Amino acid sequence: MSRIAELLEALAPIGRNERGGYDRLAWSDADAAMRRWFLAEAADLGLETEVDRNGNLWAHGRGGTGPRLVLGSHLDSVPNGGALDGPLGVASAFAAMRSLRDAGEAPASNVSVVAFVDEEGGRFGLACLGSRLTTGAVDPERARALVDRDGVRLDEAMRAAGLDPDAVGPDPGRVGSLGAYVELHVEQGHLPIDGSDAAGLAAADAPLGVLTGIWPHGRWRIDVAGHANHAGTTPMAGRDDPVVGAAGVVLAARDAAVAEGALATVGRVEVEPGAVNAIAVRASLWLDVRGADEGRIRRVVARVTAAAGVAPVEESWTGAMRFARSETRRLAAVVREVTGTDAPTLPSGAGHDAGVLQAAGVPAAMLAVRNPTGISHAPGESAAAPDMDLGVAALALLLRRSSPDRVAG
Ligand code: GLV
Ligand code: MN
Ligand code: MN
Repeated sequence: MSRIAELLEALAPIGRNERGGYDRLAWSDADAAMRRWFLAEAADLGLETEVDRNGNLWAHGRGGTGPRLVLGSHLDSVPNGGALDGPLGVASAFAAMRSLRDAGEAPASNVSVVAFVDEEGGRFGLACLGSRLTTGAVDPERARALVDRDGVRLDEAMRAAGLDPDAVGPDPGRVGSLGAYVELHVEQGHLPIDGSDAAGLAAADAPLGVLTGIWPHGRWRIDVAGHANHAGTTPMAGRDDPVVGAAGVVLAARDAAVAEGALATVGRVEVEPGAVNAIAVRASLWLDVRGADEGRIRRVVARVTAAAGVAPVEESWTGAMRFARSETRRLAAVVREVTGTDAPTLPSGAGHDAGVLQAAGVPAAMLAVRNPTGISHAPGESAAAPDMDLGVAALALLLRRSSPDRVAG
């Protein structure tokens, strides 16, 4: 069994639920177990471990100088997520480091492995929280006050996990020391391959692909208000039922996305008070909209606003982002060497810490490992062992060759 397969097997029981998916929400017990695994694997590799003030985990190679090449991803999941979104990137970084160590070789540059905390926003609603805090892309005060579904504030959750929430915030010294960030990730969806009719790596018959950038995306909350009353005594004609309004919003979002060639999802709905025999007083929906350009996303949101009759509250917005040419070229070159062919290039519809870092001036690049089902954020997420091995081989070659251009500071 290859090292990456062994590492994933070790993680397989952590946070696994009875539906075959994973619940590894940020600052949960399962997340803590994943974080302990990170620290143990790093220590076993002789790396120097660090938990930064925003809760991100680092494993630093010793002795290197110059701009730091960072490999990694995240360890948290969405509720009932797959096994690979996040952990595959962290485990493959460790596997690549180990393959060099076992061969008695040293990386060409200063290297660290990172696991950014709370990438999915599955608990507190704001994605890429660890990298956003570190780069100053989110206000620490706003982050501390985020609340999960059980009413637990982020600062309480962090404190319970042994961190000081008052210390969270921008870390410019750290950001300035990063020469490049490279994230390996399971392919998500089957997006169009550049310059080809194929959609997805399976159709392109390619085990690995290089991601060129991330589509713009945003999250909005829509609160539909109504009048609470008794389900058995209120005539249908006299009702002001916010759930009916919410249903109209869901349909409007779908129709608008189809019309605009975008993607719109209402993946979370909350009804207050949520009693079977009461007309609700409020229905809240969370809308996620993405697409190849900002214009179509804004048009979808405008149409949803008209249908909802209330203005959606923008909870997060991330503009279109292209990964660094220099790092992407380096990545493409090592993929060509390990697979024997040119790597297909394709966009990402999913957000990533790599996008946050790139936006903050850290040259970033991403490698995708073929996912035959294309399914992600659900238990059907998959990748074949030989494809994951090729991904690790590409990262190992990058460690042997890479010397980031960026001057630290
Ligand atoms: C994160 O994975 C996102 O794209 O929502
Ligand atoms: Mn991910
Ligand atoms: Mn994800």
